[in-house]
Amino acid sequence: MNTSLSSNGTVAPDVSVKLGNISFKNPVLVASGTFGYGAEAKQWCDIEGLGGVVTKSVSWNPRMGNSPRRIVETASGMLNSIGLANVGVHTFVKEKLPYLAQFDTKIIANIAASSMEEYRDVLEHIEANAVENLAGYEINISCPNVKDGGLSFGTNVERTEELTTLLRAATDRLLIIKLTPNVTSVAPFAQACERAGADAISLINTLVGMSIDIYSREPRLNTVTGGLSGPAVKPIALAQVYQARKACSIPIVGIGGIVSAEDAVEFFIAGASMVQVGTANFVWPDAGVRVADGLTKFLKEQKIAQMSDLVNSLKIRAELKAAGW
Ligand SMILES: Cc1cc2nc3c(=O)[nH]c(=O)nc-3n(C[C@H](O)[C@H](O)[C@H](O)COP(=O)(O)O)c2cc1C
Repeated sequence: MNTSLSSNGTVAPDVSVKLGNISFKNPVLVASGTFGYGAEAKQWCDIEGLGGVVTKSVSWNPRMGNSPRRIVETASGMLNSIGLANVGVHTFVKEKLPYLAQFDTKIIANIAASSMEEYRDVLEHIEANAVENLAGYEINISCPNVKDGGLSFGTNVERTEELTTLLRAATDRLLIIKLTPNVTSVAPFAQACERAGADAISLINTLVGMSIDIYSREPRLNTVTGGLSGPAVKPIALAQVYQARKACSIPIVGIGGIVSAEDAVEFFIAGASMVQVGTANFVWPDAGVRVADGLTKFLKEQKIAQMSDLVNSLKIRAELKAAGW
């Protein structure tokens, strides 16, 4: 435990966490696709106040993504169909990784691909050009906005396990598999990742959603459907984290609608060891740091000494547990 005495003599809570053999200064990351590579957010956000940055999904070749319109605001959330627009792995390792390397925070490189081989090649290329604070990889098998790849892995348990096994053999760094909520049950996917040696799973990615202009009767998104995120999805994300927690024993990174420290605390109680802040960054680019600071304040107020006292601490009455809830 790494508690320290603050100026007023009280013991400051320890918000640091360990995932695999990597220590994070706090359990709050910013989510892939909502923080770019840090350059735009830097003027409003103290990047070093974050536990880490998960970078935009990167593929082998650069991608333009889908044509507009690809963002629609919805009640308490947003729909996006960006379609994995990204600079490609060569520019990523030449420009984006070195840029992020200047900050004292961890980097998790998120990878998207349309074949097993592409996932492996992208990972190996990053591995060969790694910077010191590259903690590991988050593997996006859950993007609902592309026709090739993405969800075709994330909705098939065997392919999820096969891909995780392949990538596990390619790196000793953290391997986090990002799961989709667009399945009947997340449990078999969590278990497949654990069997194949993933260090952790992260969830949720966006939920398939739709919005219609009632006057033109056209879908508002150019791709008809897109991915829903933001506070609207938080209850779904929490339930999925809870279900995954019951199904596997590897750490969980909780994502979905987190705006405040209180939101994050719900995820920790449900069983997440770390969280990611996504859509909130579009409103407050420093949302992640606000959540991290608020978390320290919450632990202090509640006299909780360390994160492990909070994680997976949901209280369920014995009779409910016995009934399978
Ligand atoms: C505009 C936008 C782009 C996103 N791009 C990616 C991406 O490239 N890779 C990925 O794994 N997730 C991507 N996501 C999903 C987020 O990382 C996150 O899983 C999801 O939005 C739920 O969290 P939130 O409600 O806090 O936003 C994107 C989300 C948004 C809103």
